[in-house]
Amino acid sequence: KTPYVVGSKNHTAVAISAASKSGEWIKSRMGQFQELNLKSSPTDLVTEVDKGSETMIRNLIQTHFPQHDFLGEEGVEPGAEASAKALGECKDSEFLWIVDPIDGTTNFIHGFPFYCVSIALAVRGEVQLGVVYNPFHDEMFVAERGKGAYLRGKRTAVSEELRLSDSLIATGFPADRGKNLTANMRGLNRIVNKARNVRTAGSAALHLAYVAAGRLSGFWEYGLNAWDLAAGSLIVQESGGRITDLNGNPYTLEVRDVLASNGRIHDELLTELEQA
Ligand code: IPD
Ligand code: CA
Ligand code: CA
Ligand code: CA
Repeated sequence: KTPYVVGSKNHTAVAISAASKSGEWIKSRMGQFQELNLKSSPTDLVTEVDKGSETMIRNLIQTHFPQHDFLGEEGVEPGAEASAKALGECKDSEFLWIVDPIDGTTNFIHGFPFYCVSIALAVRGEVQLGVVYNPFHDEMFVAERGKGAYLRGKRTAVSEELRLSDSLIATGFPADRGKNLTANMRGLNRIVNKARNVRTAGSAALHLAYVAAGRLSGFWEYGLNAWDLAAGSLIVQESGGRITDLNGNPYTLEVRDVLASNGRIHDELLTELEQA
């Protein structure tokens, strides 16, 4: 097997170019999409722009790396079971691109300018490259394993808060309004009373990038998927942060309930969420 060399073969350049092209296009379509369809529930939405963005990214990646595997949200049947199955079929691939073509579709639909493109490359199950691009703010977060994470050519670093009471925390509400939502509401009820405040801005990948950049000190959510988390997980780690499941186990592609933080408040957050 060929060892993976971080940053080799222009993987990063292709990921950045795909994120930038699709991101610009998405931005140009805000308020102008034509098709709004429901997926697994009335709160799980998709537009032709989500699908078009995914096609654009997939085509570009496959032109450069025809042998690589590809997992994109809109290529998978809706619902948790189908998502788990799709991931199970490819998670150990030698080279797997994991793509969320618009993270923050509901924001995109409503013209709330907080959404992004998320592109990761995993090598035999471990994320080696992650790119999260917010076209509205023209912010491209890029991380390569072992080489740090960058925004506009500068290293990103997590915040320094030592206590939850001094921290700004984010969460999100899952598309399925079942047990994940109930768990999250309990967590929210507890954390909002312990933290400085809580934000819920509607894009898991950007919440992770904001933890990496020190704009948030922590983020948790129940019921996410590999495409929401893969790129952001590496950006957090390469910025000195910590990302685990909600039992404190290390992040893997299969994690669905997630906690990311500056590391310093991680255990406190885990304990509070456990007691919620
Ligand atoms: C959603 C966003 C949102 C989170 C949901 C995700 P999508 O992704 O990340 O912030 O709360 O759980 O499904 O559907 O906009 O790509
Ligand atoms: Ca979606
Ligand atoms: Ca998403
Ligand atoms: Ca999406």
